[in-house]
Amino acid sequence: MRKSKMKNIVTVLLVVVTLFVNVVGCTKSTDTTESKPNVENGTTNSDTKAKDSIQVGIVLPTKDEPRWIQDQTRFSAILDEAGFTYQILFSQGSSATEKSNVETLVSKGIKVLIICPQDTSAVGAAVQLAKDAGVKVIGYDRLITGTDALDYNVGFNSESVGVAQGQYLIDNATGTGNPLYLYAGALSDENAFVFFKGAWSVLQPKIADGTFVIKNSEEAKKVQDILELTREQMASILGQITTDWDFNVAKSKAEAHLTSARAADKGGVYVLAPNDGTARAIADVFAIDKDVTSYVITGQDAEKASIQYVIDGKQSMTVLKDTRMLTDAAVAMAKQILNNEKVVVNSEYDNGAKKVPMNQLPVLSVTKDTVKEYIFDSGYYEASEFTGLQ
Ligand code: GAL
Repeated sequence: MRKSKMKNIVTVLLVVVTLFVNVVGCTKSTDTTESKPNVENGTTNSDTKAKDSIQVGIVLPTKDEPRWIQDQTRFSAILDEAGFTYQILFSQGSSATEKSNVETLVSKGIKVLIICPQDTSAVGAAVQLAKDAGVKVIGYDRLITGTDALDYNVGFNSESVGVAQGQYLIDNATGTGNPLYLYAGALSDENAFVFFKGAWSVLQPKIADGTFVIKNSEEAKKVQDILELTREQMASILGQITTDWDFNVAKSKAEAHLTSARAADKGGVYVLAPNDGTARAIADVFAIDKDVTSYVITGQDAEKASIQYVIDGKQSMTVLKDTRMLTDAAVAMAKQILNNEKVVVNSEYDNGAKKVPMNQLPVLSVTKDTVKEYIFDSGYYEASEFTGLQ
């Protein structure tokens, strides 16, 4: 379906070099008990009834996105190997569940909490609760805002994710008047703002010079001549184009946009999709519209299903945020805390209440041309799990 040619450009983005500390050599916990995977809503390797038996508590936002399941699997593997006792719980899209998950883990005596919040601001209460109990808190992937109770963060350079997505669309566009459809993540997730900020930083000049014409957001059109948007301006745009990180929302928004668009607003279209789940949903909608002759669409997370879409030419690119690096970095930090060692970071971010020391990791653009090198040769996934590869 897609006619546009994808360029053979490998974009190695962000170049904050990260001191990558491996978890090899972690001290074995004395109270590690037999493995009991897949408890109710998470994973644990310790006897959860025994008080004070857990060293590391992990809270992830939802099981409904493959992206977080990957993190869970990887955490279990490296924490088992490192000999830490741990429990992983999921918040299933609810800040209330998230808070009770933190309470549960605190009551089990965790020393370190690794938390990827559902809502990056509402999580403040849970972070404070952990802090008050003497637990060191590591924000994971998403940027927690508005609390000084957060100790550290490990995550990727989210602005560079948005830049990679926007730049990909630019690199694959020719001429002027190219229809542009914009989509974003959840308003409750600070990362969604940062991704959009990065994408806008490269797309806006190309909207201003006529390369792209925004087709699905009046709020974005209103400010299309402004490179640096205020928080309020961004919030207005995101309010209109949010997917809530939910592929059902993404699907119905894309359907509504294409239903109300004229044939002249279609043709060869360009789509900024914030992550893989939403990209696949939106791509499926664009693929069946008879007036869409070709589409170029971005993604993020290198989910298996999207790697297959990239191979099949149904999704143009994705951004690899290597889960191995992220979980390794989080566990390395936990180990440093538990061993009273110096915690290694390479940057910081201002969360509105404090400057949070952060270990920031690089991302990679994955296209049909780079999938072999970044995904298969690196061992991220096995090529045998995919079809259509020569
Ligand atoms: C973001 C995260 C992305 C993506 C998204 C949807 O915060 O950085 O990698 O997974 O959430 O859950």
